[in-house]
Amino acid sequence: MLFKQNKKIPLDKFIYDSLYNKEKGYYIKKNPFGKNGDFITSPNISVFFSEMISIWLISFWENLKKPKKVNIVELGAGNGEMMSQIIKTLDNFNEIKLSANLLILEKSPLLIKIQKDKLNKKKVKWIKNFKKIPKFPTIFLANEFFDAFPIKQYLKKGNNWYEKYISLKKNKLEVCDQEVSSKIIEKYIGENIKKENFVEYSPSAMRIVNEISNFIFKNNGGLLMIDYGFISGKMKNTLQSVQSHRKTSFLKNPYNSDITHLINFKMYMKEFAKSDLKSLMTTQGNFLMKLGILKRAELVTKNLQFSQKADIFYRIKRLVDEKYMGSLFKVLFVSKTKSNFNLGFE
Ligand SMILES: C[S@@+](CC[C@H](N)C(=O)[O-])C[C@H]1O[C@@H](n2cnc3c(N)ncnc32)[C@H](O)[C@@H]1O
Repeated sequence: MLFKQNKKIPLDKFIYDSLYNKEKGYYIKKNPFGKNGDFITSPNISVFFSEMISIWLISFWENLKKPKKVNIVELGAGNGEMMSQIIKTLDNFNEIKLSANLLILEKSPLLIKIQKDKLNKKKVKWIKNFKKIPKFPTIFLANEFFDAFPIKQYLKKGNNWYEKYISLKKNKLEVCDQEVSSKIIEKYIGENIKKENFVEYSPSAMRIVNEISNFIFKNNGGLLMIDYGFISGKMKNTLQSVQSHRKTSFLKNPYNSDITHLINFKMYMKEFAKSDLKSLMTTQGNFLMKLGILKRAELVTKNLQFSQKADIFYRIKRLVDEKYMGSLFKVLFVSKTKSNFNLGFE
């Protein structure tokens, strides 16, 4: 147990323990996806989502001049749904099928088991870290991956900065803070510290961002990252937790609810730019529409009954409509500066 009475730990350590504690961690003991879980992700809403991702990655591979070997690495594959649709789609495109080395980087042993039960183990390899990725062009896919990383939060009061901690008092978890040198925060966000009086930052996510950047810079390829988040404005407290599809307090039920945050896309883009990589960004709605999700659905549903058609189009609406996931969810494409590929971002 990480907590002892009257002891406090930084917010990111608390989130990490809640989600990945070896015995009780949320992602260690539970399959959180779907109706009976706590939340649903785009690949589990509609297969057309993963089909569009597959079409995008085939086009990107063509734009990379069809390298004979290409890694397709899914970061945090959840219940394996997106990878299973990618495999199905690639089966229809022999050239890339023969070139593709499909890899999954996954942290949760329980989810690895679920993925292995769902996917053809001969077609996919599971890796523990970036060192295991063969050094050839690589397309990284990350759907709702970075929002699952622990964050730190800092607050300015007067001229001083404080870091958010969680403490256990009389068996109750409480938020408290501890003074911290502004130099530590400056290390993360540089000059921007002058503009902010609240800072949210994930050191562990930025470490992965740097690994991805180095890999793309050296071996070519790109990252397609899809997540909920914001682009402009001051930093804000975006911490949230859900249980059984409802918002809950992250302190109430730490090992049983998913704790996430909104992605600060501007910060990610700045980090990629430091490695001389360029970023293109759009909303999920725009990306999927540009890739032709509606046309594809119209084609496939031509001979279906009305109720089946209605269900498919309702699911697509959830993915693309502004009122649902269409604009809160953003798509970020990171590649070498010389790349001219912009499918979905025109
Ligand atoms: C919110 S789920 C999204 C799953 C899936 N991409 C989807 O869209 O359904 C986050 C996933 O990332 C995994 N994950 C979180 N941190 C990770 C890390 N540091 N390394 C590998 N996987 C991680 C989780 O175990 C989980 O599979």
